[in-house]
Amino acid sequence: MTRQPSSPATELREWDASSYHRVANPHVDWGRVVLERLPLRGDETVIDAGCGTGRLTELLLERLPHGRALALDQSTNMLDQAALHLTPRFGDRVAFRQADLASLDLDMVADAVFSTATFHWITDHERLFTALYRALKPGGWLVAQCGGGPNIASINHQAQAVMREEPFARHMGDWTGPWFFAGADDTATRLHDAGFVEVDTHLVAAPVALESEAAFREFLTTVVFGTHLNRLPTEALRAKFIDRLVRWSAGQQAAWHLDYWRLNMVARRPVASSRRGVMC
Ligand SMILES: C[S@@+](CC[C@H](N)C(=O)[O-])C[C@H]1O[C@@H](n2cnc3c(N)ncnc32)[C@H](O)[C@@H]1O
Repeated sequence: MTRQPSSPATELREWDASSYHRVANPHVDWGRVVLERLPLRGDETVIDAGCGTGRLTELLLERLPHGRALALDQSTNMLDQAALHLTPRFGDRVAFRQADLASLDLDMVADAVFSTATFHWITDHERLFTALYRALKPGGWLVAQCGGGPNIASINHQAQAVMREEPFARHMGDWTGPWFFAGADDTATRLHDAGFVEVDTHLVAAPVALESEAAFREFLTTVVFGTHLNRLPTEALRAKFIDRLVRWSAGQQAAWHLDYWRLNMVARRPVASSRRGVMC
């Protein structure tokens, strides 16, 4: 089983939401496929867990003509951008709430939970799955995807090396990064342990090729290494950190490539279940 890093369960982080909204195109492509796996009639209440700027919440709402989406995220910037994007079109069919998913306190409010590219930012998957199980009504589906297995192993390996060098090392200490890339089997075990049934998990390669050096630089800055950059005290140092990774990629046979791997999961809260002695 993949070992989970110790606490904190979540690295608090703000995002450059307008840049994310523009550049996170691979995430939308991946998310479309995840959404196709979600069985919907069209009148349900569905949580988008880690909604980001709402580009996928929008596609979710298109599948809910008589339903509602509850868009959850811990980032104020992301939620503000999502509200700008979604409220004019969907009005009160979408609600926004700032929340740490691992500490979610919702009880049987959702017919389904949908989530993309978010769970690997949370290190305590036991707590996360328990909280999501609780938020689901009996019979509700969890359909999600996140980074897993050897996700972005090449550039992460390179970043680890840069982080151990000065002038970065004094700011990074022994921190190794914010992510938890779980495996398929250990995730299935954690989902079962949280009470889920009909569990299916699998990893797929989802490589991304950015079109130019500038696009690669912005993608690393906004999407991949924002938490790393938060630890560096000056703009010059942050630019230097990204420069090192851009220069490394330029020297690779396939420049501007990222070896993304996606962990997919489908699981269901039983229609009538007994978990930890509680009849639901
Ligand atoms: C890479 S973005 C994905 C956004 C969107 N789902 C997409 O696919 O474009 C990850 C999102 O997860 C959110 N996030 C990370 N940790 C979280 C937590 N513990 N609770 C709630 N949201 C979290 C971030 O704020 C961010 O908006």
